[in-house]
Amino acid sequence: MRFDIITIFPEYFTPLSASLLGKARDRGLLSFGVHDLRDWAYDRHRTVDDTPYGGGPGMVMKPEPWGQALDDVLTPRSRLVVPTPSGRPFTQRVAGELAASDHLVFACGRYEGIDSRVMAHYSSVVEVDELSIGDYVLAGGEVAVLVMIEAVSRLVPGVLGNAESVSDDSFAPGRMEHLVEGPVYTKPPQWRGLAVPDVLKSGHHGRIARWRRDEALRRTAARRPELLERVELDSHDRRLLES
Ligand code: ADE
Repeated sequence: MRFDIITIFPEYFTPLSASLLGKARDRGLLSFGVHDLRDWAYDRHRTVDDTPYGGGPGMVMKPEPWGQALDDVLTPRSRLVVPTPSGRPFTQRVAGELAASDHLVFACGRYEGIDSRVMAHYSSVVEVDELSIGDYVLAGGEVAVLVMIEAVSRLVPGVLGNAESVSDDSFAPGRMEHLVEGPVYTKPPQWRGLAVPDVLKSGHHGRIARWRRDEALRRTAARRPELLERVELDSHDRRLLES
């Protein structure tokens, strides 16, 4: 899978060569291109922003450098992702959809955002997703793009080792959809007076799976009650949550 990122801060993307993503790149599963938007600016000062029509604070990114850059980087099979706090929510499900693509192009906005005509124009050329990673405002899209690339990459077949499975993750479509994961433990069995729950040491796979789902339900009810409304609860689940 190929990722191309267009930004005025290419240095934000050095973490792509670290850890899981770096290894997947070395193994040829992922490849990354990081491009400086200013390479497509056309004036002596390599200007990429201007004042907003209608007035107001801040600056808006000019359409012409974006048009030149995207014409060069997009192919007919690419999907264009634009991170913005006004986008639809980036969820595990969206990460899975993006992982099915073989070329993602990320357009990182700064300041007050990118002139809207850029997204309007490319919507008739490729699939365009304006996505938000949460209800807070970052200084620009770069960190949001790192978040999305990491979440998408680990869903690309072969990127995670056999030992890790994405199907038990919080929010994973299927058994864990709309649930957060419960607590996890490792050795030693006792630490500072706190014990590992006996069921996890029982070797009984059925009971362990039941316990894990129960704990996921309890934790989701406590921390993310708004998610629970979307979970299909059976009579066991209902009794558990009432107790
Ligand atoms: N750019 C600024 N804030 C953002 C957010 N919350 N999600 C995606 N892109 C952003």
